[in-house]
Amino acid sequence: MVKDRPPEHVGIIMDGNGRWAKRRLMPRNYGHKAGMNAMIKLAGHAQKLGIKYLTVYALSTENLSRRPQDELDGLFGLFREYFTENIKKLYEANARVRAIGDITALPEDIIRLLESAEANSPKTAEFTLLFAINYGSRSEIINAVGRALKQGGEIDEDAFSSLLYTGGVPDPDLIIRTGGELRLSNFLLYQAAYAELYFTDVLFPDFSEKEFDKALKDYAGRTRRFGKI
Ligand code: FPP
Repeated sequence: MVKDRPPEHVGIIMDGNGRWAKRRLMPRNYGHKAGMNAMIKLAGHAQKLGIKYLTVYALSTENLSRRPQDELDGLFGLFREYFTENIKKLYEANARVRAIGDITALPEDIIRLLESAEANSPKTAEFTLLFAINYGSRSEIINAVGRALKQGGEIDEDAFSSLLYTGGVPDPDLIIRTGGELRLSNFLLYQAAYAELYFTDVLFPDFSEKEFDKALKDYAGRTRRFGKI
């Protein structure tokens, strides 16, 4: 079955910023800045193509505890820049943002920025950019189990999904990982049960709209059986 419709939800593991910078003899945060610019372009492109949800893995729980403080400070600086300046363009394009992850561990001002970005997002948005920040799938699942136990009673797959950070968002149809590694690194593990996976050696700052189109073309040629024959 070849699909003529775009995927509804795409997830991206934005890997390779550090190597991209290193090749240019520049500090890692230079690569993250280039990655942010690539992400901004991709979000606009995805929206134009009719994709409804784009989830970007901006910071994993492991990144937050294991990266050197100066790199984290650089990333926090980019989040501040994005959520004070670039965000307006997203609203103008009738798009909304949503943060997924344990944002309580982030610096106080970033928590406020994320909260106000969600609150100020257009209510009738046709496109949602989900930022996975201090996100880890295992802790998301454990958190959902805790909430389910508290609620009590029977629970089915739909009810459980609604307790995840992504509650209300359809499962990803396609997950892209740039930077050459072939793993999911704790990203949307429950939600990715039937996602198509696309891996590319292209480093994230070079993952252009054209590269994104290539991934979509590959996806369009896949047969999705969801367990059927
Ligand atoms: C992994 O590449 C990437 C990250 C840990 C950070 C991704 C963040 C951005 C692209 C900026 C996002 C900005 C906003 C506003 C959300 P790596 O550094 O591990 O690459 P490497 O494997 O080459 O070292």
